[in-house]
Amino acid sequence: MGADATDGPERIEAAVRALRAGGLVLTPTETVYGLAADAADPRAVAALYEAKGRPRFNPLIAHVADVAAARRIARFDAEAEALAAAFWPGPLTLVLPIADPQAVCDLARAGLETVAVRVPAHPLAHALLAAFGGPLVAPSANRSGRPSPTTFADAAEETGAAAAAALDGGPCAVGLESTVVALLDSPRLLRPGAVTRAQIEAVVGPLAEAEGDAKRSPGRLTRHYAPDAPVRLEAAAQQPGEAYLAFGPAEPGERVWNLSPSGDLVEAAANLFAHLRAADRSGASAIAVAPIPETGLGEAINDRLRRAAGFVG
Ligand code: TXA
Ligand code: MG
Repeated sequence: MGADATDGPERIEAAVRALRAGGLVLTPTETVYGLAADAADPRAVAALYEAKGRPRFNPLIAHVADVAAARRIARFDAEAEALAAAFWPGPLTLVLPIADPQAVCDLARAGLETVAVRVPAHPLAHALLAAFGGPLVAPSANRSGRPSPTTFADAAEETGAAAAAALDGGPCAVGLESTVVALLDSPRLLRPGAVTRAQIEAVVGPLAEAEGDAKRSPGRLTRHYAPDAPVRLEAAAQQPGEAYLAFGPAEPGERVWNLSPSGDLVEAAANLFAHLRAADRSGASAIAVAPIPETGLGEAINDRLRRAAGFVG
């Protein structure tokens, strides 16, 4: 995988032309595939919400090429600078006061005076952002409420029909969405993700929990990231008719996928959505999932699994 093995400069140019014309573009990031639109173009952003079937009040992440571009759209304080220096480019999203409301239009921010911004690490996403020259909003490329796509094929199946251009960057290395941290009062964890709580707390100290408005964000809705089949958590074993997502040493079997035979949370995160999709396609009556430890990346993996099971409001 990687940019060398996949799409080159001509594809980037075609994608930039599509974006300038108000079109949508499928793009890989290191976390999951995104469906991108010009953040400054309300019509393009409206088309993006439409393609995802997404409730309009859920704001989008503005992706930019580097921290200098981020500072042009958002107001950075010392904590924002410290987190950006530690984790960008990479899977951390910062929610900050908006500095340029035209650059990320009202619709993209769902009318908020804040903006979520991140600098993705994937070379193709970076090349697209550098060539486009402005912020791109890009939610995960799934239709609303479905698991995020972590391969080009899954992204194309979810929302490819709505895209005017598409970049194939191979499978996503991380496989789990970015961590979302708001820096509006005290640092607040809005969505656990690819950068762990401990990694962030090492830079800015203890994180407060999401509350109030943050609960409206799509990452906080019940039964988000959900496959069609019901999901059963903390399952020590597979029942007849079920698919099983194992974690750690396990017997191979029919409709069994192992998130990580060695019990590695990084590997499990990378496999999570693709295995959920595979289990869902198997025609099982339900998807049972082995217990996953709550440490490190396990917090974000369990967050996605609880939402897939519909347990979190
Ligand atoms: O890894 C990722 O972040 C992927 C890739 C494509 O970059 N994108 C992604 O976007 O997961 P999306 O739209 O599926 O999730 C964006 C999250 C949501 O939980 C949303 O509520 C939150 O960011 N968010 C965006 N703007 C916000 C704001 N102004 N205030 C609070 N939360 C915000
Ligand atoms: Mg999403």
